[in-house]
Amino acid sequence: MTVPPTHRSTHRRNIALAISAVAFLSFEIAIVSPRAQTPSGSATPGVGNAVGGGSGNARQQGDPAQDPGPRGGDPGAGAPIGGLQDYENTYFFGALDEFKAPETVAEGLGPRMNLDSCVGCHSQPAAGGSSPAVNPQFAFASQVSGAVPPLPPFITANGPVRETRYVRNPDGSPDGGVHAIFTISGRPGADGCSMSPPDYGPQLAANNVIFRIPTPTFGAGLIENIPDSAIIANATSNAPTKTSLGIRGRPNFQVSGRTISGQTNNNGNDGTVARFGWKAQNKSLLLFAGEAYNVEMGITNELFQTERDETGTCQYATVPNDTTNLAAGTLSGIEQFAIFMRFLAPPTPSTDSPGGSPSIGRGSRLFESVGCALCHTPSMQTGNAAVAALRNKAVNLYSDLLTHNMGTGLADGVSQGQAGPQDFRTAPLWGLGQRLFFLHDGRTTDLVTAIGAHSSSGSEGNGVVSNFNQLSENQKQDLLNFLRSL
Ligand code: HEC
Ligand code: HEC
Repeated sequence: MTVPPTHRSTHRRNIALAISAVAFLSFEIAIVSPRAQTPSGSATPGVGNAVGGGSGNARQQGDPAQDPGPRGGDPGAGAPIGGLQDYENTYFFGALDEFKAPETVAEGLGPRMNLDSCVGCHSQPAAGGSSPAVNPQFAFASQVSGAVPPLPPFITANGPVRETRYVRNPDGSPDGGVHAIFTISGRPGADGCSMSPPDYGPQLAANNVIFRIPTPTFGAGLIENIPDSAIIANATSNAPTKTSLGIRGRPNFQVSGRTISGQTNNNGNDGTVARFGWKAQNKSLLLFAGEAYNVEMGITNELFQTERDETGTCQYATVPNDTTNLAAGTLSGIEQFAIFMRFLAPPTPSTDSPGGSPSIGRGSRLFESVGCALCHTPSMQTGNAAVAALRNKAVNLYSDLLTHNMGTGLADGVSQGQAGPQDFRTAPLWGLGQRLFFLHDGRTTDLVTAIGAHSSSGSEGNGVVSNFNQLSENQKQDLLNFLRSL
């Protein structure tokens, strides 16, 4: 396996963080009078107009802009980040095998789970990514002896991988926790376990179920190593422009000791900026790996030691199910998953596909001038990381890692840490070119719909979407080409 050069050598630009209010104002004038000459003015016929990527249809001048669709060709993802030591590469590939390995009942799978491997949910366009085209939960459901329990309606063969959370408990208090879709009943090695999956019917009827799709983990080690101070400095930058567009944003501080009387104090930890997950609810890759191993697969581990469902007739392994093996001197699963994701290279953007490099270049400037970049910060920098390959590197993630109020249209009613029912982390956009499903619940495969969904009552995205809507169709096409180049 060859190790590619670092993404920085192939990345075409390192976009400045700042968007000056002056530049923005001149753009406002430009969109009011479309003939005004701006760098992002008219599209060059034959370059900006081609719909690239998967569809191959030629778009005519003036036609409505379209999502070019997932970019074909080399995935440009899945390899280790450049600059690792040989021993770090060796750990990466060993951990990749662990990330791909399906778990069995004898190893502790379940008794409730959403799937049996990390890679099942994180595979598009390569191991570590997001939801694949064909939902593996569909096939997984049928791997039982006897009658196959009916699948809930939101799990379909060609829909996204989904996990469910309930908004409320039966007594009306906030729930927000993951309710696993499957049980081990009827699976090999689970003789004597009789456990029903959740009865989603009444929950769906009561609008009590929300969905989350997998977030990709490419470049996650770089995200993990951005200092809190960089996130906070970025949050306070461009304040006048942000204010004029209604954009706020605050880091998802997990306040230590934040206890609500009569309830358990979940999270908290050390009070530093959390950054992973749709609500920036988790601090680190190790923590996410520990949580995912138990919540998604039902494998207890060194971070989450006790089973979520302790039904006695459904336990087949010692607890915690997976640990560092002191006798053999091997690392625990969660350490390996964290190592794999930490060393996983960020996605490589394309310089010319879809639509050609002039169109992508214009799209990138429009992305800044309409204000997308005020939340989707093009680049931040890692700090003095212990791993040299992650130290003082550009992180071209297109996110400020802050949570924003996205309005009633995207609200899921769930609070996590300081992120409230309408708040979501600005989704990092790197790797967008190869993504199939968008937004936290995977409600769309279309970038135009995803952008439109930023606008609803109370959303901090309203001002920017209104700017986007005023672009010409050719300009929108440039912006969409740029997004699919990532
Ligand atoms: C059933 C599908 C499923 C399985 C299996 C699964 N995940 Fe995920 N993963 C998700 C979903 C859904 C999210 C988003 C969760 C959220 O934010 O609410 C996610 C998010 C993550 C993230 C956060 C990345 C980011 O930047 O936001 C990490 C890290 C992660 N998973 C690691 C793992 C690891 C490691 C495993 C195996 C132990 C695993 N996942 C197994 C569905 C899955
Ligand atoms: C106020 C901050 C904000 C602004 C401004 C903003 N976004 Fe977003 N964006 C978000 C958040 C938060 C999400 C995640 C929402 C969710 O999943 O419910 C998101 C999600 C997305 C997604 C889906 C990504 C995924 O992983 O599914 C795309 C694409 C996107 N934004 C593009 C844009 C574009 C293009 C613009 C400019 C027209 C823009 N955004 C402006 C905050 C913002």
